[in-house]
Amino acid sequence: EKGGYDYFMLKEIAEQPKAVADTLLGRIDGGGSLRLDELRIPDAVLREAHKVVIVACGTAFHAGLIAKYAIEHWTRVPCEVELASEFRYRDPILDQRTLVIAISQSGETMDTLMALRHARAQGARVLAVCNTNGSTIPRESDGVLYTHAGPEVAVASTKAFLTQLVAVYLLALYLGQVRGTKWGDEIRAVVRDLARIADDVDRVLETMEPVRELARSLADKDTVLFLGRHVGYPVALEGALKLKELAYMHAEGFAAGELKHGPIALIEEDLPVVVVVPSPRGRSVLHDKIVSNIQEIRARGARTIVIAEEGDEAVTPYADHLIRIPATPVLLQPMVSTVPLQVFACELATARGNEVDQPRNLAKSVTVE
Ligand code: F6R
Repeated sequence: EKGGYDYFMLKEIAEQPKAVADTLLGRIDGGGSLRLDELRIPDAVLREAHKVVIVACGTAFHAGLIAKYAIEHWTRVPCEVELASEFRYRDPILDQRTLVIAISQSGETMDTLMALRHARAQGARVLAVCNTNGSTIPRESDGVLYTHAGPEVAVASTKAFLTQLVAVYLLALYLGQVRGTKWGDEIRAVVRDLARIADDVDRVLETMEPVRELARSLADKDTVLFLGRHVGYPVALEGALKLKELAYMHAEGFAAGELKHGPIALIEEDLPVVVVVPSPRGRSVLHDKIVSNIQEIRARGARTIVIAEEGDEAVTPYADHLIRIPATPVLLQPMVSTVPLQVFACELATARGNEVDQPRNLAKSVTVE
C-alpha cells in the first residue's frame, strides 16, 4: 500500500505532481478562463463580497496565509486570515457580504468547524476548501471546492497542502474573473503558468538528493530557523512546523524583515538557517532585501541554506548550501519552495530515528477543540 516507499509521507510527497494536476483538471478551459460551476455559490454573491476571511488550522492555515497575498493582489478584496481556534472567541465582524473560506484536508477539524458555524450564524457565506468528500465541513458550508489530493495517510500534510494552494489560487483568480478586477495579461499569464505548475513540482522532486544529504548532516542539531518574505514567509512557517512535528526539533519561522527586531539575537556560530528567497523578477526590492539579510546572518556565523530560483546568481556567494527551484510567477513560488522543506523534514526525522508517518502526540484529524 506504500507503493514501494518506506513511508506514506515519501509516497505522498512523490504524488504531488499528480495531486496538483488532478486538482486543476477541468477547472481551466482552453481559452484560459476558469470554470468553477461546482462552487454552489452564485457569481452574484462573489461579486458583492466586500471582505474575505479565511479560517484554518496548522498547515491549512499556512495555505490561507498564502491565499491572502493572491486574493488581495488579484482581486483587491480585503482578506483576513485567522487561526480557527482564535476566530470565534474574539467576536469577529461578519455580515452577509463576508465570504468565509474554511480550509481543511480532513473536513473534520473541530476548531475549523466551530469557526464556520459561528460565521454562518452571523449571516456570512462559507466556502469550504476540502480534500474529503462528504465530510462535515463541506456538508455544513454553503459551497465547496474540493482538492483532489487523494487520501493522505501520513499525519504530516504534504500533498494536501499543495492542492490547497492550487484551490485558493483558483478561487482568487475566479474571484478576479467574475468581478472583472485586474483581469488582463498578467492574470492570463498566471493561469497559463498555473496550468503547467505540476511539471515544476516534478522537476523539484528530481533534484532532492542533496537536500536529503544535507538533512542527514544536521541530525544532531537542536535548532533550525526559517526565514522568508512575502509568500515565502508562510513557507518559512510551514518548513518550521514540519520540522517540529516530524524531527521534534526546535524550529521557528520568521518574516525576514523582522530579523533586526529580535530574532537576529538567536544567530550563533553554525546555526542552520533556511532562507526562502523571493523571485528576483517581479518584486525585486524584496529579493535585494533578503540577500542583505542572508549576508547579515552569515556574518554572524549562521550556516545558510538558501532556496532560490534557477538563475538567481546574487545569492550564490552567501549560500553555504544552495537549493534551486524553477522560476515561477511571484505568487506561485510556494508551490515549488515548500517541496524541499517537506523532504528536509522527512529525512531529518528518519535520521533521528523518529516515526515519520505517525509522529508522537499527534493525530491526523483533530476532532476535539
Ligand atoms: C501539519 C498538519 C496539521 C493539519 C491541521 C489541520 O502537517 O497536518 O497542522 O494541517 O491539523 O487539519 P485539516 O486540514 O484536516 O483541517
